[in-house]
Amino acid sequence: MNADPLDAEDFRTLGHRLIDLLADHLGTTARRQEPVLRWQEPEAMLASVPPVDPAGGADPLAFAARLCRDANHLHDPRFVGHQVSAPLPLAVLFETVTALLNNGMAVYEMGPLTTMAEHRLLEWLAARFGLPGEAGGVMTSGGSLGNLTALLAARQLCARGDAWQHGSERATVFASEQAHYCIDRAARILGFGAAGCVPIAVDEQFRMRPEALRAAIAHCRADGRQPLAVVASACTTATGTFDPLPELAAICRQEQLWLHVDGAHGAPFAMTSRLRERLRGLELADSIVCDLHKMLQMPALSTAVLYRDGRHATAPFAQQAAYLFADSADREWFNRGHRTLECTKRGFGAVAYGCLQTLGERPFVAALDHALDLAQHLATAVQAATDFELAVLPDCNIVCFRHTPAGIADLDRHNRRIRAAIVQSGTFYLVQTTLPRGLFLRCTLLNPRTTTADLDALLTAIRAAANRSTGD
Ligand SMILES: Cc1ncc(COP(=O)(O)O)c(C=O)c1O
Repeated sequence: MNADPLDAEDFRTLGHRLIDLLADHLGTTARRQEPVLRWQEPEAMLASVPPVDPAGGADPLAFAARLCRDANHLHDPRFVGHQVSAPLPLAVLFETVTALLNNGMAVYEMGPLTTMAEHRLLEWLAARFGLPGEAGGVMTSGGSLGNLTALLAARQLCARGDAWQHGSERATVFASEQAHYCIDRAARILGFGAAGCVPIAVDEQFRMRPEALRAAIAHCRADGRQPLAVVASACTTATGTFDPLPELAAICRQEQLWLHVDGAHGAPFAMTSRLRERLRGLELADSIVCDLHKMLQMPALSTAVLYRDGRHATAPFAQQAAYLFADSADREWFNRGHRTLECTKRGFGAVAYGCLQTLGERPFVAALDHALDLAQHLATAVQAATDFELAVLPDCNIVCFRHTPAGIADLDRHNRRIRAAIVQSGTFYLVQTTLPRGLFLRCTLLNPRTTTADLDALLTAIRAAANRSTGD
């Protein structure tokens, strides 16, 4: 390496070699030639990573190779675990461009083109979700932050008085008991307290029960609290279930509540004709969150927060910052810093916009349809087997099931051990969740290269792990 760490030629040479290394990694993972995850206990992994050496001198290619080797390989078709996509190589390249440029976008001048690419991306997403032409929003870092941002808008627009100035401690949001934990967390961050997020009972399909919601709203009013917003899950994290959006929208209209849809995982399915019915009502939302790093193959994090009325995008943060914004009062639409908790942020909008402009929508829709096909295949295979039990018919691409052979007294322990054995063997990566009936194995099928043969092999691997485990 040259003595100058900013040297352009060094960057060129190293960059070419790094791309070669990453391309090899993509090839070997796609061909299932490496373990999905080389499992190591946390202590052993820490011991293998030397402390920072102030003198430096390590080989960057060796470190990059180690990063690839010891990562959880999301590009391996046998990765069927958490809801993080294997990013498109093109997106990774655009990500490198935006990282180098580091245009933070708090104000338009600090990212003129990235700001407008974000604007165009949001316009496209809003249209796909059926929102009206005046919809608008912002890109931010992750679904958790996105949900908090949308609920901040709901608080500012719907709570009594000026919540930004005086707080709003008795405001209350309602979300299904299956909602992602970040909703309860957001309510607490907003100062609503432990009673500020009311969990609403679900039916046997894990859908929020509208009559339970109505009762909870009435109870909340009787208690002297202020109902503010309903958070619909589209879909839930654990089982991939879509709440009944039209019914929840009707309740929100009658009760004059904000309807926020946490579509972090499931909102992109609005683009496939197959799930259009499940997502009917999405267009009625006051705000929607959608993670592009889940079902739209973007690198993490990349989250859209959309408002049905784009003017609401500046409601969450009603702050003056004279050193940054020339005129905070007029809420310049082109200064993204008015809209997010972040001041400087990454150029995620430009990354997704660049991919769409290059590839068009088709591969994204095809990947969504493929994910649905895989989920159907797995659910059908599980139902057909006498030694497996399906938790619930999948609405989309998340499938929960457990191994239930005769003679096992403790099914939770049995399935927990199976998962641990499979993950540690590196043959598949899957996760688990606890549902009312007990512990279930959980698969999210989002890699376009995963095949039905992979899923059949997964069931075989589970049976083999079970045999080893019961043989102990
Ligand atoms: C429904 C739902 N909402 C929100 C989140 C949080 O998203 P993030 O991890 O991007 O913060 C998740 C994550 O799995 C999710 O499934």
